[in-house]
Amino acid sequence: ARKPIIAIDGPAGAGKSTVARRVAAELGLLYLDTGAMYRAVTWLVQQSGVEISDEAAIAELVSQSEIELVQGDVDAGGTAPHALMPSRLHSSTPAPLTVLINGQDVTREIRTPQVSAQVSAIAAQGEVRRALVKQQKEYGRRGGVVMDGRDIGTQVFPDAELKIFLTASVQERARRRQLDLKEQGQPEVSLETLERAIFERDQKDSSRKISPLRKADDAIELVTDDLTIEAVVEKIICLYRDRL
Ligand code: C5P
Repeated sequence: ARKPIIAIDGPAGAGKSTVARRVAAELGLLYLDTGAMYRAVTWLVQQSGVEISDEAAIAELVSQSEIELVQGDVDAGGTAPHALMPSRLHSSTPAPLTVLINGQDVTREIRTPQVSAQVSAIAAQGEVRRALVKQQKEYGRRGGVVMDGRDIGTQVFPDAELKIFLTASVQERARRRQLDLKEQGQPEVSLETLERAIFERDQKDSSRKISPLRKADDAIELVTDDLTIEAVVEKIICLYRDRL
């Protein structure tokens, strides 16, 4: 028997990774950001100069690549690749995952607007999904993991003990993204531009043929427009405890 799995799905910018990371830390579970894996592949494709429509070349690239998600700072030492165990259990502000592709740290590079603009086209490709979903299932084989993405509750772990569908209005998600960018000292982007980018990504992710973004029938939907991160985390922890 495996330990429980929490699946957190939802559209772009709904706060899934922040919430998932905190829930994992509070409950002493592993955390896996599956979006980071699709982003890492997208970054690699862009670096390699392969056309994003060249599915065969991309499939080949993916089959030769290794993606690692490491909890905490890799340079701090001691954290083995694939060791997703939170380094600071029960901390409410755990470190973000470090993302490596073929040994290269791309944690920051995968968050650029260039990657965000093309990731949906890459994530729609069957071979890419097959390779990454296989790896995600392997990570979660023994359970005890919080996984966030688009298809975790529907495809990757349809038997997850708790499924959350996290949403917020496009306007609210754009507003939060703008604040994030500001905090990171990035150049200001208008709300209108952010709303359009978020809307377009949602459209692509929801309308693709393979594993489109959708709420699993048994997922609990949380609309977070008027909720703080703390409130959402607390709600999920309550739901999890109720089920154990
Ligand atoms: O979660 P994040 O916004 O970083 O995900 C980036 C993109 O990766 C999504 O817009 C989607 O195209 C893709 N993705 C996916 N399936 C997942 C996670 C992410 O298709 N499970």
